[in-house]
Amino acid sequence: YKKYLPFQPIRFPERTWPEKVIDRAPVWCSVDLRDGNQALVTPMNLHQKVVFFKTLVEIGFKEIEVGFPSASETEYETLRYLIDEHLIPDDVTVQVLVQARAHLIEKTFEAIRGAKNVIVHFYNSTSTLQRKVVFDTDMEGVIGIAMDAARLIRQLADKMREEYPEMNLRFEYSPESFSGTEVENAVRICDDVLEALGATPEDKTIINLPNTVELATPNCFADQVEYVATHLKHRDCAILSIHPHNDRGTATAATELGVMAGAERVEGTVFGNGERTGNCDIMNLAMNLYAQGVDPKLDFTNMNHIKRVYEECTHMHVHERHPYAGELVFTAFSGSHQDAIHKGVTYMAKTGAAHWAVPYLPIDPADLGRQYEPIIRINSQSGKGGAAFIMHRHFGYILPKQMHPEFGALIQEVCNREGRELKAEEVFRIFQREYLRVH
Ligand code: KIV
Ligand code: ZN
Repeated sequence: YKKYLPFQPIRFPERTWPEKVIDRAPVWCSVDLRDGNQALVTPMNLHQKVVFFKTLVEIGFKEIEVGFPSASETEYETLRYLIDEHLIPDDVTVQVLVQARAHLIEKTFEAIRGAKNVIVHFYNSTSTLQRKVVFDTDMEGVIGIAMDAARLIRQLADKMREEYPEMNLRFEYSPESFSGTEVENAVRICDDVLEALGATPEDKTIINLPNTVELATPNCFADQVEYVATHLKHRDCAILSIHPHNDRGTATAATELGVMAGAERVEGTVFGNGERTGNCDIMNLAMNLYAQGVDPKLDFTNMNHIKRVYEECTHMHVHERHPYAGELVFTAFSGSHQDAIHKGVTYMAKTGAAHWAVPYLPIDPADLGRQYEPIIRINSQSGKGGAAFIMHRHFGYILPKQMHPEFGALIQEVCNREGRELKAEEVFRIFQREYLRVH
């Protein structure tokens, strides 16, 4: 990541711009195996969950929500399998989700027995809409549900710590549908829960603010996060987390603004799988940091492998235009882009530039384990620079500048005539035929 310059402010008159940048990675928590899984047409089986879990560990996730063990037998079994087979590394914490309901909380505590590091994540819905339409209760009723759950969790945790003194047990509370909740009420319920759980600055509780349904432009979510960050009475006893969804297609922006507004932790999934339009895409967020010289603390150097595991386990497809991961995102067809990329690559090789300086490519594809080869592909849109680049990179021929227009036109003519893209080998064969008289 050090080969990328930190964000370079463009000159902007009469103000400091940008006012905020993200200069360190938040704590990441993958919810692929829970939020992602619950949104699949065919949820993952035990084997797929274990394979996916191992891949998340390889990527570098230290917190992984593995499921809803009180709600599904597969999720209960998966968690027990991970614990009993010692598949959870000592520096990884597994997180389990549960509704704020007594019998589900009790079953959850049964499921986590003996795990080394666990976060018990409980939630209830707090928005004005859900209070009225779903629960037919007021804010006092909603706070009562959260407090009863918090007290029970504390009691069961005390008991479990006695029985398993080596367990590192932590808590997380989500006011579900936070973004549809009045900010004062959100602060009130979170402070009450922190008190009921006995959170301290040494033993912090995660307060997770979900954008359960993305309802407004990303700055609105960030304003709500900022309000909580600056008004929580027990702020020093909390780790502030966010859990953005993507209903308006702006989860990445909402997450970045949420972090700038004070969130220290982000829950999301690797390619944005999750309920409806998905969760925020942690790979996208991490690579955005990477591309501005910030260590994302996650490793996507083996992108093709990660993509393969994801597609096999979820039966979902990573779109060709998906940032950083899509099949076509390091491909340039148009002539002017090819020419600029060619010049950038040559400039870097010639000058030994310390920082990445290739136009149209925000990062070096090699950093994701991808190849240079597919960057320049030749079709009827390609210009003179593209064909020359192919000859140089693939076949070691440096064509004199004067020759570029003629050779480019020749290649373009074949593409137009045949109505298709040409492979590098075909470009070379045309070169051999026309200039070396090889048939
Ligand atoms: O989106 C959401 O609100 C959730 C909570 C359960 C955290 O997934
Ligand atoms: Zn969610």
